[in-house]
Amino acid sequence: MGAMQKEAFLRELLGRMSLAEKVGQLNLLAGGMDSTGMKIPENFARKIRDGRCGAVLNVYTPAATRELQEMALAAPHAIPLLFGYDVIHGHRTIFPIPLGLACSWNLELIEKTAAAAAVEAAADGLHWVFSPMADVCQDARWGRVAEGAGEDPWLGSRIAAAMVRGYQGGENPVAACVKHFALYGASKAGRDYHEVDMSRREMEETHFPPYRAAVDAGARTVMTSFNLIDGIPASANRWLLTDLLRRRWCFTGWVVTDYTAVGEMKNHGTAADDADCAAQAFSAGADMDMMSEAFETELPELVAAGVIDEAAVDAAVMRILGTKWDLGLFDDPFARCDEARAASVHLCSAHRKLARQAARESIVLLKNDDDLLPLSRDASIALIGPLADSRRDMLGCWHAAGDERDASSPLDGFRALSRGEILHAPGCRVAEENPAWLADAVAAANHAEVVVLVLGESLEMYGEAACRTDIRLPECQRLLADAILETGKPCVLVTISGRPLELTDSSDCFQSSIHAWAPGTEGGRALAEVVYGQFSPIGKLTMGFPRRVGQLPMTYREKPAGRPFQSDVSYSSRYLDCPNDALFPFGHGLTYGKIELGELRLEPVEMPPAGSVTATIALSNPGARAVTETVQLYLRDPVASVSRPVKELRGYRRVTMEPGEERTISFVLTDADLAFPGPDFEPIVEPGGFEVMAGLCSRHLRSARFVRLAQ
Ligand code: NOJ
Repeated sequence: MGAMQKEAFLRELLGRMSLAEKVGQLNLLAGGMDSTGMKIPENFARKIRDGRCGAVLNVYTPAATRELQEMALAAPHAIPLLFGYDVIHGHRTIFPIPLGLACSWNLELIEKTAAAAAVEAAADGLHWVFSPMADVCQDARWGRVAEGAGEDPWLGSRIAAAMVRGYQGGENPVAACVKHFALYGASKAGRDYHEVDMSRREMEETHFPPYRAAVDAGARTVMTSFNLIDGIPASANRWLLTDLLRRRWCFTGWVVTDYTAVGEMKNHGTAADDADCAAQAFSAGADMDMMSEAFETELPELVAAGVIDEAAVDAAVMRILGTKWDLGLFDDPFARCDEARAASVHLCSAHRKLARQAARESIVLLKNDDDLLPLSRDASIALIGPLADSRRDMLGCWHAAGDERDASSPLDGFRALSRGEILHAPGCRVAEENPAWLADAVAAANHAEVVVLVLGESLEMYGEAACRTDIRLPECQRLLADAILETGKPCVLVTISGRPLELTDSSDCFQSSIHAWAPGTEGGRALAEVVYGQFSPIGKLTMGFPRRVGQLPMTYREKPAGRPFQSDVSYSSRYLDCPNDALFPFGHGLTYGKIELGELRLEPVEMPPAGSVTATIALSNPGARAVTETVQLYLRDPVASVSRPVKELRGYRRVTMEPGEERTISFVLTDADLAFPGPDFEPIVEPGGFEVMAGLCSRHLRSARFVRLAQ
C-alpha cells in the first residue's frame, strides 16, 4: 500500500514537471555557513526559487534549512530540498576521526556513533550525510586516510556496513552516501585528485569489498571518486556505475558525483565541454551532479537532441524523489527544522558519554617499556607540546558543526583528573620554532617528575587536499622532543594525527608512546583517563605505521614474493636501508597487563565442502590486573590458482580476563572465509591446505593447518 501510494504520488508529480524542473532535481548546489549564519550565492537562490535545484550541501541549522526550504516550496511544484553535509564522525558531538574509530574494532560502538550523528544531523535540518568513506588505503601520505577505516578490506567492510546501519536505521534516519566510488584510496603516490591505475584483481580483492558491504547494508546513495579508472573518470565510467554497481551489485539507490567532478572531465582530457561532460556522466549512470551544474544546464538540450533519453532522466528523478518521500519530506518538509529538538539532542549527555567511550577505545598504546604507564594521579607532570592545550585539533578534519569550545584539550583532561601539579608549556607551534617557549618547556620538564609530550599534526595537515611526502613530526617538534629527552626525565610521547606517522626516530627514544588520532569532543579527557590508567587502552591499529615513508604503499596483506625477504640474502625482496615490515603493524596495540596465548588447535583438520573448522586458542592472564584484549585470527591459502596474501584477517574477538584466569576461545571458519574472487570475479573456494594464525596483532602469530577437502 505504502509503496503503491508512493509510486502513484511521485509518478503524478513527475508527470506535471517540465524537463527543466526534472533536471533541476539532479542538481546539487552548495551554500555555506559562517558565524553570521547561512550564505547562499544569489544565482543559487534563484535556482532554488525556480525549482532548478534538488538538493543543497553545506547548509544546516533549523533556521537556515527552513529559509531555503521555504524558497523551494514557493516554486511551481513545491518539491522540498534535500539537505546534505559532510557529517563524517559526528555532527555537533564529534567522535574520533574515522581512522581512530576503526581502531576500536568495536562495530557496535561505531554503529552507535553513526546513529548519534544521524540524530544530531537530522535535528539540524539535514537528510543526507556524505559518509561512510569506504576507501581502503595503504598509503599514509594520502591526507584522506583519516576519513576511512584503514588498510584492511575485511574489517573495512564490516565498519562501512555498521556505519550505514547507524545512519539509516534510527527514528530520524539520514541517507548514507558511500564514497568515493571507486578506488580513491589508491590515488597514485598518495596524492589527492591523482590518477589510479589498478588490476581488476586488486580492485576485487582489496578495494571493492567495503563499498559492496555498504551497498549490501542498504546505503541509499553512492558518491563517485575524482580519479580515473582504466583511463576513464569514475564519474563517467559506465562499467563502474552501471555494469558493476547497478547490475552486478544490484544497487537501487542513486549516484551523486563528487564536487565538480563532472566538469573536471575536461581537465582529465576525456570531455570537450560541459555538454560532453554531462552526456558522458549521465549516460554512465550518475544521477546527481554536485556543483558542476552541467546536468542542469546541458541535459535539456541533450534530451532535445536525442543524445539522452528522457526516460532515463525520469528514472533518475524518481530515484531522488523516492528518497525524499522515504525521509518524510513530502509529509512535512519542516519536520527537521525544530530549534527545541536541536537544543535537546546536540551535545546531550548520552552523546557526550558515547564520544568519551569512543575516544577511549580509539586510543592506541604503541609502546610501554618498563610499564611507565599508567602514571600516578599524584605525579607532578609537565604537559608539553603544541597540541597539549589544543581543543580544536582534537576535533580533526571534517568536524561538521563541531565547535572547539565544546571540546576538551589534553590539558583540560589532565587538570580534571590530576591530584598532582600540572605544568603546561607548548614548547613550539605545530610547525614553527619558538626559542623562548622551548626554554620554558625544558624548565617545566626539569621541574616535574614525568613529562607527557603531546605532538603531531594540526587538523589542517590531513584530510582532503592535505597530502604529505614527509610524514614525520614537523622539524620544530622533533627538536622539542630532543630537548625534552635530554633532561633525562621519564617521558611519554602522545601523538595526535590523522594518519599513521613515521615515528621511527622519535619512538626509539621514548619509553612509552600513545597514538590518540584526533579523538573528538571528549578526546582530551579520554586521553588523560588512559594515561592515568582509569581506562586501559584497547585500540588496535587498522593501518600500519611505516618505518620510513619510502616503504609506502604497504600492507600486512601483501602477496608472497618469489624471493621472500631474508635479511642475509641480497637477492631477496628487501630494501638496502630498511626492513620490509611496519614499525607498528596492522592489529598492533598494547594494554596495561598482558594476556598470554597458548596452543592453537583446529577441529577437524579435514574440512568437508560446505563444512566448518573450529579454531580454538588457549588464553591466560598471568598478571595481577584484569586485561581486555582483542584476539585476532588470520588465514592463508598457501597454494591457489592465483597468488593469495601471506595473511588476511578473518575474525577477531574482544575478551576481558580476570587476574589468573585461563580460558579458551573459538572461531568458526567456513567456505565464506576461504573464498576469493575466481576467474569471473565471483567467489570461489579451492580445496587444499590452509594455514590459520592467531595472535594479538598481525605479527607474532600462532599457527596451525587444515585441509579443505574436494569432496
Ligand atoms: C569533496 C570530497 O571529496 C567529498 O568527500 C565531500 O563529501 C564533498 N567534497 C562535499 O563536501
